[in-house]
Amino acid sequence: MAQEDVFKKIVSHCKEYGFVFPSSDIYDGLGAVYDYGQNGVELKNNIKQYWWKSMVLLHENIVGLDAAIFMHPTVWKASGHVDAFNDPLIDNRDSKKRYRADVLIEEQIAKYEEKIDKEVAKAAKRFGDNFDEAQFRATNGRVLEAQAKRDALHQRYSDAMNAMDLDELKQIILDEEIVCPISGTRNWTDVRQFNLMFKTEVGSTAEGASTIYLRPETAQGIFVNYLNVQKTGRMKLPFGIAQIGKAFRNEIVARQFIFRMREFEQMEMQFFVKPGTELDWFKSWKQTRLAWHQALGFGNENYRFHDHEKLAHYANAASDIEFRLPFGFKEIEGIHSRTNYDLSQHAKFSGRKIEYFDPETNESYTPYVIETSIGVDRMFLSVMCHSYEEEKLDNGETRVVLRLPAALAPVKLAILPLVKKDGLPEKAHEILNDLKFHFNCKYEEKDSIGKRYRRQDAIGTPYCITVDHDTLKDNCVTLRDRDTMKQERVPIDSLCSLLEDKVSLTSLLKKIQ
Ligand code: GAP
Repeated sequence: MAQEDVFKKIVSHCKEYGFVFPSSDIYDGLGAVYDYGQNGVELKNNIKQYWWKSMVLLHENIVGLDAAIFMHPTVWKASGHVDAFNDPLIDNRDSKKRYRADVLIEEQIAKYEEKIDKEVAKAAKRFGDNFDEAQFRATNGRVLEAQAKRDALHQRYSDAMNAMDLDELKQIILDEEIVCPISGTRNWTDVRQFNLMFKTEVGSTAEGASTIYLRPETAQGIFVNYLNVQKTGRMKLPFGIAQIGKAFRNEIVARQFIFRMREFEQMEMQFFVKPGTELDWFKSWKQTRLAWHQALGFGNENYRFHDHEKLAHYANAASDIEFRLPFGFKEIEGIHSRTNYDLSQHAKFSGRKIEYFDPETNESYTPYVIETSIGVDRMFLSVMCHSYEEEKLDNGETRVVLRLPAALAPVKLAILPLVKKDGLPEKAHEILNDLKFHFNCKYEEKDSIGKRYRRQDAIGTPYCITVDHDTLKDNCVTLRDRDTMKQERVPIDSLCSLLEDKVSLTSLLKKIQ
């Protein structure tokens, strides 16, 4: 099945099974805004718990914070967002559709890369075991031609972005003959800058309302609280502050479901270090964060680092963790060495001294910062995409199964009485009332047992138990494993200890310890 079709299926599965709904669905939705349903909110909360515990519980020197979304407007002047948090946009006059000029060009670069990959795949098939990929890439005429075009375009694009040369961006789009996917024409407007921050007003008009912004990142809430946390927590460098919260960006191109949203959630951690040590910490956080992802068992080959060539003016290193989604490798998380830029800017704009007194050297300095920043929604999407499977069974049927890591699954255990009579529902409720204190259980009695298993497979429930007539005599139930579909008879009083280890976050966290 084409990857595009797989993705469409995942999107409709998310809606059908209560994971993600379009916002204001009865009004036909709102662009790039989504609601999480009864199963989605559980999965999302589990992802957040996995991240929070890995940061705050497993590190003695990382503490949490929950800063407000609204902040003093000067914060965004100091951080540079008012002046520079822009995307270059371009309109097609025929379709009246708006695009990000940089995205149009990046897609063109990706087309050259796809062409090369296709040539390589074709040759690999033709030559089989004797295929020498490196030699093929270095010598094949068609590959070399596509590579040269890709490299030249990439260079021209990087130069234009570095200089924020909007005319040159438009010229690249014209020279590459990029057409609007809707109208198919090249009738483009000039490229303009567009600030991504949402504005609103605080205070009544009579008192003199002032413009404030919905935060476009949670990080600034951490920077402005650096002194508060460091002093009240008596924190010693190096230390980190972690935060999970909503962020808002008026994205021009809203596509790919929850990959790019206008209201989304971030999990960010700012790690404050002694100047000069930041690049060692940057390296170490890259590995720590990669290990966090890999512990989920989605296959190490599905992750890669993308080290930034073009660095923001305040950064001295930056790298993305990319994950293979149905539409290619995409950024899920950013790790940035942000120097002392943010703290220095806030010191300048607030007039406050924002420094650290180092008791070991008896000197004061502005700490440097390593940031790890991951989108909850992108993480959610990567978990869904990797877990969704249409499995062909031996009997010729197909089942849809979400192979979610058990610790992230919305429901850990479904409790199913075989029939709705003979005291089986009562027995099942007895088990539920005991186990619900340990993990999320779901009781279901409607439909045949086969249909109920399928429904649980589709929402990723790792275990089901069936309460049957024998249960009333022997106090045992049939335990079914989602992935293998194997069934075994187990005593009810062993269920808690048997399952807790498999479904709790603790076992996942132990893998990264
Ligand atoms: N404080 C740094 C920062 O915000 P970023 O690379 O702009 O850096 C970090 O964003 C992460 O936030 C991204 O890797 C992505 O996972 C998520 N993210 C950014 N924009 C998003 C959007 N419009 N929709 C969903 N997630 C987004």
